[in-house]
Amino acid sequence: MSLVCVEDFEQNAKTKLEKNALDYYKSGAGEQYSLKLNRDAFKRLRLRPRCLRDVSQINISCEIFGHKLQWPLGIAPTAMQKMAHPDGEGGNARAAGKAGSIFILSTLSTTSLEDLAAAAPDTIKWFQLYIYKDRSLTESLVRRAEKANFKALVLTIDAPIFGHRRADVRNNFSLPSHLSLANFQDEKANGVITMKGASGINEYVSSQFDPTLSWKDIKWLKEITKLPIVVKGVLTAEDAILAREFGCHGVIVSNHGARQIDTVPASIEALPEVVKAVGNDLVVMMDGGILEGNDIFKALALGAKAVFVGRPAVWALAYNGQRGVEEMLHVLRKDFEITMALIGCQALKDIQPSMVAHESTYSK
Ligand code: FNR
Repeated sequence: MSLVCVEDFEQNAKTKLEKNALDYYKSGAGEQYSLKLNRDAFKRLRLRPRCLRDVSQINISCEIFGHKLQWPLGIAPTAMQKMAHPDGEGGNARAAGKAGSIFILSTLSTTSLEDLAAAAPDTIKWFQLYIYKDRSLTESLVRRAEKANFKALVLTIDAPIFGHRRADVRNNFSLPSHLSLANFQDEKANGVITMKGASGINEYVSSQFDPTLSWKDIKWLKEITKLPIVVKGVLTAEDAILAREFGCHGVIVSNHGARQIDTVPASIEALPEVVKAVGNDLVVMMDGGILEGNDIFKALALGAKAVFVGRPAVWALAYNGQRGVEEMLHVLRKDFEITMALIGCQALKDIQPSMVAHESTYSK
């Protein structure tokens, strides 16, 4: 049976993944209110299609940091992808490259920076950085990313510690013993160790990540690298303005797939205030809850230059490795092209804020 939407990939993945992995991938923090909101908030936005506008040719190509993309959707960093399928990050990145998209590699990957670069040489790759208490270790990650031809650093700023994901605690989540955090093979930061009554990943993060992190550390990062710096996890105009002040090149409006703190706004709800604050100066992107072409369109109409998907790529990987991700991206791209045509847009520049309205507009 062919899979025709991202939910189909998710349903299929649920039949394939073991509980430890499935719960880890799907969970949000706390009561998972924001996890649901990431979807619901898209539904509260209505599309306002324009008609009779010649949509015989649709062109959704774009450019981010000087890189030409076939369309404005990339793969967000998600940790430990080999738990989903042996193809892991390499398969995911190759699929992204074939689709003309960006792939962001997590620091907590089960494929090293170097192996990923070798597995997907033609894909535009960004490296998601967590800052470790051990700054020399952090600096070595940056050097390795530069050397392996990654084109930007995505500094995740919403994770000084990890959020409380109840299922992971209940499961005593741990990385299966045949896998490891591949960027740290020879380092003391290696491994995810299960603690009694706790989530192994949270224990790892508390012991390794630097919770003292502040905006001044961006200065440090800028001193040690020339790569563009994108901060990921911005949900307010205030932090977006600081990102500009501290010389970042872009922001990803994100609530980390609702995995950090519950009852934060959906990313799509936070997007307009960030665009208003810094949209003329920084490349504003977003992730969280994107499952359909309509969602991509709404984010772009509200001012995002590109969007990313996290879980959808994991589900597709679990379904059928690299081929699964290729299929999922194809489904999503076709869906976006249908949205573009039916709203009356030939190219991304035709997308107007007025093509999206909040549901409250219609209930007055
Ligand atoms: C994540 N996310 C994430 N973010 C990050 O900066 N570094 C990481 O290692 C991870 N790991 C991770 C694992 C899993 C299983 C998930 C679901 C998410 C957050 C991710 O980059 C992104 O913000 C969200 O996944 C986007 O939401 P959707 O597309 O999953 O709804």
